[in-house]
Amino acid sequence: MRTYNTYYLICVKILLLRWHSASEDFFPQSPRASVDLLPQVRARERKRKSRAPGEGPTARSGSDGVKVPRNFRLLEELEEGQKGVGDGTVSWGLEDDEDMTLTRWTGMIIGPPRTNYENRIYSLKVECGSKYPEAPPSVRFVTKINMNGINNSSGMVDTRSIPVLAKWQNSYSIKVVLQELRRLMMSKENMKLPQPPEGQTYNN
Ligand SMILES: *[C@@H]1O[C@H](CO)[C@@H](O)[C@H](O)[C@H]1NC(C)=O
Ligand SMILES: *[C@@H]1O[C@H](CO)[C@@H](O)[C@H](O)[C@H]1NC(C)=O
Repeated sequence: MRTYNTYYLICVKILLLRWHSASEDFFPQSPRASVDLLPQVRARERKRKSRAPGEGPTARSGSDGVKVPRNFRLLEELEEGQKGVGDGTVSWGLEDDEDMTLTRWTGMIIGPPRTNYENRIYSLKVECGSKYPEAPPSVRFVTKINMNGINNSSGMVDTRSIPVLAKWQNSYSIKVVLQELRRLMMSKENMKLPQPPEGQTYNN
């Protein structure tokens, strides 16, 4: 098993390469040249898949209690976010492409149909601290929303009232959190809550 330092050096190298191709990297949803600058990540992913066929995305590295190197894991999440997932109802990326610490992320959720969140675009801030993914990220809505478990004056997601955060596992990811929040928008207790006028944001 390689040491954390080796992973870290690989990560820094990849990020430097990404940095130099930043001009091609502007649009988060478009196919990005930088994906090809993550060969180590891709090789590792292929190796992992061939070892554990049939494992779903939430059962990935770390569910067996093994510590996951933070930056390596976040680079995987970055790559997945750049490719985009399935139906595009949630997306995520680094707030600042040059953030070498991989700490500050932005998330986006498209409100689910047949709810009061329908057709609205919710943007969020996600912070992955130094203990991530052993510890959950902190998550805050930027777009105003009325929903159980969300502080109505700051947009902070209350860790205790959102199951994936309260019972966090290191196999979870930013994607899992965003998908869970979207699922909660569809829950009986939230789907018909009156919502603030569209386009308002929390001012902090
Ligand atoms: C909501 O957030 C504000 C500002 O951070 C805090 O003062 C307040 O106690 C929070 N309210 C609840 C119900 O947690
Ligand atoms: C915000 O939440 C508090 C406590 O949860 C509640 O008393 C208050 O009426 C709410 N404010 C708005 C504007 O919904």
